[in-house]
Amino acid sequence: MKDPLLSGITAGHAVTLRVISAAQGRRTGPGVTTVTDVFGLSQKDTSPVSGQAAHEQVVFCADERSGLRAIIAIHNTALGPSLGGTRFYPYDNEQAALADVLNLARAMAYKNALAGLDLGGGKAVIIGDPAKDKSEALLRAYGRFIESLGGRYITACDVGTYSEDMDLIARETTYATGRTPANGGAGDSSILTAFGVFQGMRAAAQHKYGTPSLKGRRVGVEGVGKVGHRLVDHLVEAGAEVVICDVSERAVERVRARHPQVDALAGQQDIIAADIDVYAPCALGGSLDDDTVAKLRAGIVCGGANNQLAHPGVEKQLAERGVLYAPDYLVNSGGVIQVADEIGGFDMERARAKASQIFDTTLKIFAIADEEGVPPAVAADRLAERRMSEVGRIRAIWLGH
Ligand SMILES: NC(=O)c1ccc[n+]([C@@H]2O[C@H](COP(=O)([O-])OP(=O)(O)OC[C@H]3O[C@@H](n4cnc5c(N)ncnc54)[C@H](O)[C@@H]3O)[C@@H](O)[C@H]2O)c1
Repeated sequence: MKDPLLSGITAGHAVTLRVISAAQGRRTGPGVTTVTDVFGLSQKDTSPVSGQAAHEQVVFCADERSGLRAIIAIHNTALGPSLGGTRFYPYDNEQAALADVLNLARAMAYKNALAGLDLGGGKAVIIGDPAKDKSEALLRAYGRFIESLGGRYITACDVGTYSEDMDLIARETTYATGRTPANGGAGDSSILTAFGVFQGMRAAAQHKYGTPSLKGRRVGVEGVGKVGHRLVDHLVEAGAEVVICDVSERAVERVRARHPQVDALAGQQDIIAADIDVYAPCALGGSLDDDTVAKLRAGIVCGGANNQLAHPGVEKQLAERGVLYAPDYLVNSGGVIQVADEIGGFDMERARAKASQIFDTTLKIFAIADEEGVPPAVAADRLAERRMSEVGRIRAIWLGH
């Protein structure tokens, strides 16, 4: 590349980068955009529990001809190379993209740590509309930037990217997972995401009712897309009574065609108000807010959606109401376990065995929460931080060569 830019960010400094067209970015001079206070943004993202340090490395990538503008954020590599998906999204501006990627990278560090993976946390965003801007050249240019990091960041699918995109990226880098099965990849990660959520739910039932069986339990699944509809399959097979809702009529019909006994409710409010034992948010984030927590009738919350708690403090409200919350990033880690397995050559049975450990980890989190008198969400953060710190520390042992 002749005119690339950017690179690692020096903490505390404004970062100047070349933008690739007059229409993009906030210009401060010919072809230049300034993103300020990157380190400050990174620190704002610090966990109140942990005081974990800010991000290790943030890399801006641009390729003018293909239109690529991407940011790769590595939160930490204490446990190994960072792994996290690439989000392709039409952000309003670079600040929004940067804020998102910093948050997402940190979340991956915690998720990978709790999942027991020898992987750190990273994430990437490509700024643009995937429907219009995605091309072979752009994805392959992006792949070359990933390769240039020498394995410090391994990518996978996220919103706006698919296994077929990973196949293209992988033509330029060995550090891409979530490829299609035809190319030796792990394919659709929602298979083990749903399986892991089911394991987390069994653990929650064990903690709350003394048995992991979900037979006869009423479960409300909000959102029956890739993850939700597979979760319904597991639940029906386990003998649970399932009610669902989805804004997509087609998604509802697909489930009802397979399982006519499943009831469809009109929307989230109806699931919240329903006489259910378990609420499983599997649509978008933020479904647990002051209002829904106050009205929720379920005794357990366990679902696949990311970022279910709308704001800090909701985890306490749930605990005060006696609702057992299975932390989202723990129970939905089956997907990352699936794609991580691809790194050494994919084996579905090995990956499934690893994802089944979500049952034990969820029980462990509930036990720590009880012992330490904190909500499970806080216990999950503490356990992830402990692993990053303790296992990360052993890397300081000198190997003698
Ligand atoms: N796919 C994975 O492997 C994976 C891994 C970890 C976390 N997640 C998270 O799980 C959630 C679902 O992911 P997915 O891959 O199944 O996505 P998806 O797009 O296939 O499914 C989401 C479903 O939710 C429905 N929906 C949207 N808004 C809704 C609303 N207000 N009420 C009810 N339904 C609504 C959509 O119509 C869709 O059917 C997301 O939060 C995602 O970030 C997914």
